[in-house]
Amino acid sequence: MTSRAYVSSNEIPEKALAIVRGVAEASIHAADGPPSREELLREVAGVDGLLCMLTERIDGELLDAGKNLKIVSSMSVGYDHVDLEAATKRGVLVTNTPGVLTEATADTTLGLILAVARRIVEGDRYLRDGSWRLKWSPMMMVGRDVHGKTLGIYGMGRIGNSVARRATGFGMRIIYHNRSRDEESEKENGAEYRSKEELLRESDFLSVHVPLNAETRNSIGAKELAMMKPTAFLINTSRGGVVEERALVEALKAGTIAGAGLDVFEKEPIEVDNPLIGMKNVVLTPHIGSGSVESRTAMAVLAAENLAAGLKGERPPNLLNPETFKGRE
Ligand code: DGY
Repeated sequence: MTSRAYVSSNEIPEKALAIVRGVAEASIHAADGPPSREELLREVAGVDGLLCMLTERIDGELLDAGKNLKIVSSMSVGYDHVDLEAATKRGVLVTNTPGVLTEATADTTLGLILAVARRIVEGDRYLRDGSWRLKWSPMMMVGRDVHGKTLGIYGMGRIGNSVARRATGFGMRIIYHNRSRDEESEKENGAEYRSKEELLRESDFLSVHVPLNAETRNSIGAKELAMMKPTAFLINTSRGGVVEERALVEALKAGTIAGAGLDVFEKEPIEVDNPLIGMKNVVLTPHIGSGSVESRTAMAVLAAENLAAGLKGERPPNLLNPETFKGRE
């Protein structure tokens, strides 16, 4: 009997869809943007596999609605939108797409560091709105140096490592905090391990690369921001929930820190009245860390490969809950 799969976005490249269609009869969410909760609950009811985005909440209710679900393949490296325990309890395989977006996300991180420190976005606006009147003046739109500064990496995983590698090329000194020491990065990038408090106190740029989970949620709050230098910048390309946004807004207003480069937010899309929007010392991007055609295509293909493997009864390459596969190999 042919398997059935639901793909929750109409923007999946044909290359990836062909992989899904090779193993299953695929139905694809037709409208732009993510499906409504109702549509998702309805669609999973009849399928064996779900290829979803980080916009879909995969919880007990959804897994119960998907009575025949064998696999949930998320086109994302982050999986904080998936209740992994609930899936494991129900024997549903869950997969993500690590690796293929590492370099693109690291590029975006460096972009935010440069943009916020050197006021590139603000400068663009200044020019376009006609504010540039003087030919040149010594202190017009001056920012802060990036070279020679200390980059603190909070979470030295794949992306943290790639950011460190790039930042050494910019003449930055690297310090990091992680659950465990990363001797390779210490050797390769001269990265020095610090306690979380030391990291906060010493960084000129603090870049967040931890995944969002119960331990890391709001782990950068008012107390942590108060430990940072008033000249420091916070960069976040991980998940908005790691940083307590209200505390960040207060810190930016009060000058507790100098600025922020943010690609992710507590609520996405952010509300039009979010105070961050009116702030000059922040650069904001709409969760496009991995947003290159090459990376998003590779993510879609990997998500499709994971899905296909799960539907064929094989172990998917990026299985997050290997317990569900025990005894099947
Ligand atoms: C992810 O994959 O988790 C990113 O946030 C989107 O690329």
